[in-house]
Amino acid sequence: MVSIAKRFPGVLANDHIDFDVKAGEIHALLGENGAGKTTLMSVLSGLYRADEGEIYIKGQKVNMRSPRDAIDLGIGMVHQNFMLVEPHTVAENITLGLKTPRFFLDTAGTERRITGLSKQYGLQVDPRARIWQLSVGEQQRVEILKMLYRGADILVLDEPTAVLTPQEVEELFATLRRMAGEGQAVIFISHKLNEVMDISNRVTVLRHGKVVASVNTTETSKQELARMMVGREVLFRVEKKPVELGQAVLKVEGLRALNDKGLPALKDISFTIREGEILGVAGVAGNGQRELAEVITGLRKATGGCVSISECDTTHCSPREIIRQQVSHVPEDRLGMGLVPNLAVSDNIILKGYREPPLAKGPFLDRLSIRNFVAKLIEAFNIATPTQETPVRLLSGGNLQRTILAREISIGPRLMVAVHPTRGLDIGATESVRNLLLEQRENGAAILLIAEDLDELLALSDRIAVMYEGKIMGIVPAEGADIEQIGLMMAGSKRT
Ligand SMILES: Nc1ncnc2c1ncn2[C@@H]1O[C@H](COP(=O)(O)OP(=O)(O)O)[C@@H](O)[C@H]1O
Ligand SMILES: [Mg+2]
Repeated sequence: MVSIAKRFPGVLANDHIDFDVKAGEIHALLGENGAGKTTLMSVLSGLYRADEGEIYIKGQKVNMRSPRDAIDLGIGMVHQNFMLVEPHTVAENITLGLKTPRFFLDTAGTERRITGLSKQYGLQVDPRARIWQLSVGEQQRVEILKMLYRGADILVLDEPTAVLTPQEVEELFATLRRMAGEGQAVIFISHKLNEVMDISNRVTVLRHGKVVASVNTTETSKQELARMMVGREVLFRVEKKPVELGQAVLKVEGLRALNDKGLPALKDISFTIREGEILGVAGVAGNGQRELAEVITGLRKATGGCVSISECDTTHCSPREIIRQQVSHVPEDRLGMGLVPNLAVSDNIILKGYREPPLAKGPFLDRLSIRNFVAKLIEAFNIATPTQETPVRLLSGGNLQRTILAREISIGPRLMVAVHPTRGLDIGATESVRNLLLEQRENGAAILLIAEDLDELLALSDRIAVMYEGKIMGIVPAEGADIEQIGLMMAGSKRT
């Protein structure tokens, strides 16, 4: 790819990017959220047309007008959100849209070819299974098989490990190594440094739509890659101090709830979190974590069991009644649930405290105390905003997250429910959010931390609960935790 430029309204997503990948190579495309990785690869796979620049495949200049053109050139991309048809079988999905005429469907032959490819690349999946019966990891294998079946010899994977257990990541990496070994070119998009160091032969780092560098993986380090990705020096350190545990704050017993489809999402969940303790919840997304946070904060009804906060039964309380129990909530969806986009930063920060002194005097808001209060928080939490009156929708992701944290921490929580608090943040913002959570722990708050990043859970939590299909498979101390065991529990085996 030579000097590729791609504009979206108001942003130059790809700013004259040069990029190349060789046969037999695993090439990582590394960059923070919004760096332009997906856009660049969508150009390569024919989904977007570049505004400027040229693409050469095996030395030939090509002009792609659609994903079909890209596939014909041997380019296959596995997107972050899979594009499979749920009621159909694996084999049907793999052959969907191929040019074979309808009346000439050789099912047995197709299945044989799929099984052959499965074996060749270690991508185990039953060709006759229906997509809805498969785990997310299996669905990903189907996507990869679909590309291989079409003869792809340049395979692009967009952040493929986000939805996998540690064991599945290892299996995926083994597959990618086999593909490279057979002479295919693999492009691996990621923002995770450990993975990039582990799997790639070469790394291209993007920042703000530009290439920062292309280096051989053996000639670089995690520190150097982080510096290139962020544009400054990065420390990988959070300091978890020993904390004396106090009284039980959150008690969950035999909790049950349904998901949005009316199916059981929580099946008999029990645990306790004490003052000064962080309980991390690990699990592949969609195993009940979101519903758990929602039931505890009063946003979803429990259908059985109970929740109590400092001995007070809150199972059937409204969100407002639960907030009054000094419960804070950092929700997954920041702009939807966490903040009011069109309201000013200051209004968003006082959203939960405005009925109480010192911000309210009788029925009136005390404007001056509010200004001072908000100014202090903006400084303490390092929120980059032009003024207190700026609507929060104009802030960047890291600043949105710090605004929520400022508000949720300023209520002096007894219990904090934090759902993916660092998702989508750059390394610097991630570090400051993690430290803010640890400070709350030192102040004696009980924290329920739901996160996807196992390293983060291990660094912050005192204990880790692993969820699978609405159940807790086991709770283990974070210190000295066995990643393999956690991975097995994430895939559904009970703690032994
Ligand atoms: N379809 C789109 N419409 C408008 N803006 C987009 C679109 N896709 C991406 N962008 C913007 O382009 C930039 C690069 O995004 P993307 O390629 O998705 O980054 P990455 O994959 O590295 O996280 C971001 O600022 C993003 O908001
Ligand atoms: Mg992306």
